[in-house]
Amino acid sequence: MEKPSRIAPAKGKLGILLPGMGAVSTTFMAGVELVRKGKARPVGSLTQLGTIRLGKRTDGRTPKIGEFVPLAELKDIVFGGWDIFNDNAYQSAANAGVLNLQDLAKVKGFLSQIKPMKAAFDHNFVKLIDGPNIKKGKNKYEWALEIKDDIAKFRKSSRATRLVTCWCGSTESFLKPSEVHSTPEKFVAAMKKNHPAIAPSMLYAWASVTSGVPYANGAPNLSVDIPAIQKLAHDNNVAIAGKDFKTGQTLMKTVLAPAFKARMLGLEGWFSTNILGNRDGEVLEDPGSFKSKEQSKLGALEYILQPELYPELYSKMYHKVRINYYPPRGDNKEGWDNIDIFGWLGYPMQIKVDFLCRDSILAAPIVLDLVLFLDLAQRAGMRGIQEWLSFYFKSPMTAPGLYPEHDLFIQSMKLKNTLRWMMGEDLITHLGQEYYD
Ligand SMILES: NC(=O)c1ccc[n+]([C@@H]2O[C@H](COP(=O)([O-])OP(=O)(O)OC[C@H]3O[C@@H](n4cnc5c(N)ncnc54)[C@H](O)[C@@H]3O)[C@@H](O)[C@H]2O)c1
Repeated sequence: MEKPSRIAPAKGKLGILLPGMGAVSTTFMAGVELVRKGKARPVGSLTQLGTIRLGKRTDGRTPKIGEFVPLAELKDIVFGGWDIFNDNAYQSAANAGVLNLQDLAKVKGFLSQIKPMKAAFDHNFVKLIDGPNIKKGKNKYEWALEIKDDIAKFRKSSRATRLVTCWCGSTESFLKPSEVHSTPEKFVAAMKKNHPAIAPSMLYAWASVTSGVPYANGAPNLSVDIPAIQKLAHDNNVAIAGKDFKTGQTLMKTVLAPAFKARMLGLEGWFSTNILGNRDGEVLEDPGSFKSKEQSKLGALEYILQPELYPELYSKMYHKVRINYYPPRGDNKEGWDNIDIFGWLGYPMQIKVDFLCRDSILAAPIVLDLVLFLDLAQRAGMRGIQEWLSFYFKSPMTAPGLYPEHDLFIQSMKLKNTLRWMMGEDLITHLGQEYYD
């Protein structure tokens, strides 16, 4: 692919559309507003705090990423969203209980004005919740057209010049791609027939992509990860990315596993368990939704450790992931990892990781970075799957036939090299021989 010859400037407002206005979405919106008011710092966000080295180590050129590439500014962001519940963003944030009431009070007026549009919802895909704020059309195609209409109306009322959608809705039941997802034509026919393999998240994806709006998928459900939508993204010149935000336990896994492999340490087993008590945890009690999450969480180790290349180190690895709903913890998830490794002469050792994290505090800056980078990609004319954003995902989407990169440090290098490439700077290979000539 040719380097973009021109990146359109980030002029005017950027509208962020969020299907699902729960814990992650409201923590993200509240956070952006608190940062805009100068009342908090955007910790965890590469676009706001990260720097990028350009040229040689001796050149002393390390601008902030936000000054190097033309990103939208926080002051230009406006928000919209959909949810099955009627709560406005303030009520939903208060209910999620992630941010304390003092912080929420500072943005109460702002959040209260963000009211959810009616959701396209199918109870078969999210079994453990139900809400009144849903579309009534007679089939899934009508719902999808209504979403398109919502997008057009939001574009007009918010006066946004550009839009990005980021799925922050509940995790839907596990689904494998099938015939109805294979082409745009079959997908439309299936929507009209209310086919059971068309999930609501796919309707938001279809509506966004056919409206020319980039789409990121923060959950493990397929959504935009099907050939029909990918073809539409390509044909409509729309950037897409997914899937499943990489926040706590998998972030740690994709830091530790590359270290074991780099040092040729063996792995006998990795047992990961989580307790959490937010709505996400409640939804994941359903075996269908859990399966989507489990698949997404299991993939990383296999790809990083490559047992087919190192059978004596990794082929017998036992990997287990558990998630339990435990209401007292709310959004403050505890993720335990017991890792059985072995070293020189096969002698066993153990590592224990106990991450007392805050799920939505980790996810919110990811949403911000993703929407800003997708808007950048869109203005640069980069269409289809944006693999350079793998850094943010548990199950990175790739071109067919390509295995995903899960190693956080490879992903970080890929992201920064893509920014250098977009701006016509030399890529950094870390060879460094020139310093010794
Ligand atoms: N927080 C994290 O660390 C993290 C990490 C990875 C992925 N995720 C994923 O992000 C998503 C959001 O997480 P959360 O903690 O905000 O969950 P949440 O339950 O607080 O919010 C999800 C919201 O989506 C709404 N919803 C469900 N189906 C919908 C539909 N069809 N249309 C519109 N709205 C719908 C629900 O009513 C709910 O308010 C989940 O899928 C979760 O698995 C979160």
